Amino acid sequence: MLQKFDERNKDLMVYVKDGLYHRDEAKVSVFDSVVQGGDAVWEGLRVYNGGIFCLDRHLERLQHSAKAMAFTDVPENDWIKAKIFETLKANDMTNDVHIRLTLTRGEKITSGMDPRLNSMGSCLIVLPEYKPPVYDNDHGITVFTSSIRRNSPMHVDSKIHHTNLINNILAKIQSNVAGKDAALMLDAYGFASELNGTNIFMVSKGILYTPFADACLHGITRGLVMELAGDIGVRCYEKNLSLTELYNADGVFCTGTMGELTPIVEIDGRSITVEKDIFNQLLKAFEGVKDQYCVYE
Ligand SMILES: Cc1ncc(COP(=O)(O)O)c(C=O)c1O
Repeated sequence: MLQKFDERNKDLMVYVKDGLYHRDEAKVSVFDSVVQGGDAVWEGLRVYNGGIFCLDRHLERLQHSAKAMAFTDVPENDWIKAKIFETLKANDMTNDVHIRLTLTRGEKITSGMDPRLNSMGSCLIVLPEYKPPVYDNDHGITVFTSSIRRNSPMHVDSKIHHTNLINNILAKIQSNVAGKDAALMLDAYGFASELNGTNIFMVSKGILYTPFADACLHGITRGLVMELAGDIGVRCYEKNLSLTELYNADGVFCTGTMGELTPIVEIDGRSITVEKDIFNQLLKAFEGVKDQYCVYE
């Protein structure tokens, strides 16, 4: 499902470092760390009725990622929040919006990897776009298992939400070649970790399972779905999940800010049973907490 250009986005105003710029003028320097080495951290946010869903959780993860990357000059959350709302206001946006929030290590005085070459402070980018949930949540998606392993703490800790996404992009290319909607990525031991841009859940005999967050992003939606399962009385466990378990599950779905909750209907050519009971209860619970978890200006 390739997204098409949305005409509503043709005159976007984007916040970059020190102010708002039209999308055609919104740029970072060729010396910026994100250009030089994918050296930036990011969050994807969704806007519902003018509020930003789970904003505090996203900002906490952004701060944790920046600390793990030893960024200096990291802006305070209150300042970041103010810039996000300023950008939404400049675009008169309240709904159907996804925000790509990026914090780069900033400009370097000369090309190079060494963060000591950064002396100009970090650079915040707030890029809001009209973008309804990206997957067909009614019909579900097909996935293909990639040969590219998702990073474990042995290599680059997946708990850092960084913009160096080559790992996942290579997996996505493989799923494109296979003609499927997304790539299923395994961990170093061959257990499922996540899809290239979303977390994965399995329903089996009335119980919900998701992989340990060892080699996957500890998704905000993933965390929320685990909490909601508790609220509706469904047991949920983190567990190593093999492909065979997934192929034979009663239901499999993925979660993420970009697509919300999406059934997976096929994995590697095996059709996956579409489980409706627990999935629909979770969907209802998710819809029910949207207002409660939104942060407003
Ligand atoms: C690799 C990966 N997995 C999972 C997710 C879903 O995380 P969240 O629920 O926080 O949007 C994302 C979102 O950016 C992601 O990039």
